[in-house]
Amino acid sequence: MTLLPNPFSALVIGSSGTIGGAFIELLENNPLCSSVVGIHRHSEHSIDYQKPDSIEACAAALSQKSPFQLIINTIGVLHSSDWMPEKRLDDLNPEQLMELMTINAIGPALTIRHFSKLLDPKNSIMVTISAKVGSIKDNRLGGWYSYRASKAALNMLIKTASIEWGRTKPNTALIAMHPGTVNSRLSKPFRGEQIGRPAHDAVADMFRVIESLKKEDSGSFISYSGEKLPW
Ligand SMILES: NC(=O)c1ccc[n+]([C@@H]2O[C@H](COP(=O)([O-])OP(=O)(O)OC[C@H]3O[C@@H](n4cnc5c(N)ncnc54)[C@H](OP(=O)(O)O)[C@@H]3O)[C@@H](O)[C@H]2O)c1
Repeated sequence: MTLLPNPFSALVIGSSGTIGGAFIELLENNPLCSSVVGIHRHSEHSIDYQKPDSIEACAAALSQKSPFQLIINTIGVLHSSDWMPEKRLDDLNPEQLMELMTINAIGPALTIRHFSKLLDPKNSIMVTISAKVGSIKDNRLGGWYSYRASKAALNMLIKTASIEWGRTKPNTALIAMHPGTVNSRLSKPFRGEQIGRPAHDAVADMFRVIESLKKEDSGSFISYSGEKLPW
């Protein structure tokens, strides 16, 4: 049996982003979605991964709007005004590695911890957007050290939490999802406009996968196409 009930209430974390914003639009237009809340660094209840305390505070502030049957976390970074993904080992530096770990792995893991209290224990799904380049098995090209390592760390944190939730939250699926290459702020410097898909196509595909999730899928790394990816 699929997990997402009808109707369902949704929370999108990182709704100021390209993929997050497209999820908000899709959910607002989905008749089965009774309400959708979006949060980001500048929303009324803000969440900022450079300020870890904001994660717990934001979850506490939103508890009145819970339970949510669907939480989707889209926060992530690949580059900044100070650096681009590393092409070679000589580009590796502690600041970049630390910042990507903070935003792509530690923040999302603490989000799983604190926002888990807002999930409906009867039936719910929590999806965190990861990236296929975080797959250790699939790494054929190398490069992008910090981004790859931070998404691999994120994947491990999700897998580990899903095992605990198998005991403590048996009716919740915890998922790492790859969106495919999407035309966004994040992909722009890497020919995202040419090789990336429009975000609304990517989220439509991801939502089809989300709708079909069963509790047995918890602890999976799944592509927008529904394919199970190797860790
Ligand atoms: N686009 C792709 O081709 C692609 C491929 C694979 C995986 N992904 C993953 O998909 C997710 C969404 O990416 P996107 O393409 O939609 O990128 P995006 O448009 O750049 O959106 C990134 C989101 O992350 C937020 N964010 C960045 N740093 C933050 C921080 N310190 N604290 C809180 N929020 C922060 C941004 O908030 P602000 O608006 O405040 O900056 C924004 O909401 C990411 O996890 C990314 O790794 C994307």
